[in-house]
Amino acid sequence: MKRLLTLILCLTLVCACGTTLGEMSGGVQAFESGSDMLVMCFSATDNTWDVAVKIAALTGADIFRIEPEVPYTSDDLNWRSSDSRANKEQENDSCRPAIAGLPEGLDGYKTVFIGFPIWWGTVPQIIKTLIETCDWQDKTVVPFCTSGSSGISDAIQDLKAMDCGAQICEAGRRFPAGADEDEVRRWLKEIGYLKEEAGMNRMIITIGDSELTVRLAENESAEALKDWLASGPKTISASNYGGFEKVCPLGVRLPSHDEHTTTQPGDVMLYASNQIVIFHGNNSWAYTRLGWIEGKTNEELRAILSGPETEITLRLE
Ligand SMILES: Cc1cc2nc3c(=O)[nH]c(=O)nc-3n(C[C@H](O)[C@H](O)[C@H](O)COP(=O)(O)O)c2cc1C
Repeated sequence: MKRLLTLILCLTLVCACGTTLGEMSGGVQAFESGSDMLVMCFSATDNTWDVAVKIAALTGADIFRIEPEVPYTSDDLNWRSSDSRANKEQENDSCRPAIAGLPEGLDGYKTVFIGFPIWWGTVPQIIKTLIETCDWQDKTVVPFCTSGSSGISDAIQDLKAMDCGAQICEAGRRFPAGADEDEVRRWLKEIGYLKEEAGMNRMIITIGDSELTVRLAENESAEALKDWLASGPKTISASNYGGFEKVCPLGVRLPSHDEHTTTQPGDVMLYASNQIVIFHGNNSWAYTRLGWIEGKTNEELRAILSGPETEITLRLE
């Protein structure tokens, strides 16, 4: 499927631009990596694209540039003018600028990084076009952006509010224009997507007939959990608590560095050093992060984690 994607995009490039991938500095790009991760990026002036390219290189993901059907001119991007195209689009909630072309074969990707510049505190409307055009069921979306100074949290909330079926990763990151590779690497390491660590960094939770894939955090607690599971799967007791979590005593103590956290569905946390807590709702308390569940919607998490099962099995992938 990805071969098809690569071919289509290469042909598009050769036909549309009369050039080759190697000669291109912008436009649609894709290359086959064998990865189940894709970086998709809209970037009007290349700041976010530069970050996208670094993410693809550091994760081994494929990469795809989202091009508007009508390219933005510099006048269109004049945020100081209330008449500029970008400003008018942002003011119009129902505006959905058309995208020039989308990758076929999106189905083959489990994790999609979505990059964009911040426009008026949130995602450009063309990102909403993207979200509404594709099927995001069972995918994890990891947002990233560049901006003059605004953060990414409003954009993440706006993406979540679209309820597209993907799990939107709360650990999305804002970068300044010209962010260096180390900064991008640190973030990817923190969220467990750095290439050299991928594959060693996942745990499977079995609950009844369901399996949840957990991307483990990069910290001492997750390392200790991996050491504990290195000798084989462990089955432990589990109970539902508070209408928002499944709590499971480990029977061992792990190192912890608790921080006050408001949990999101899919968070896997260590509580009191000796209990693993798996969230399908929100709670504010002091926890140490162990990881994030990948590729499940909030509804799926709720159904799986609020069921009657009284034990779970943990194993490394
Ligand atoms: C229409 C418009 C609105 C913008 N709004 C914001 C904003 O609210 N906050 C901010 O920090 N930067 C804002 N910026 C600056 C861009 O987010 C920033 O320059 C970004 O790095 C551009 O990325 P790009 O080169 O990938 O398009 C805005 C830029 C434009 C064109």
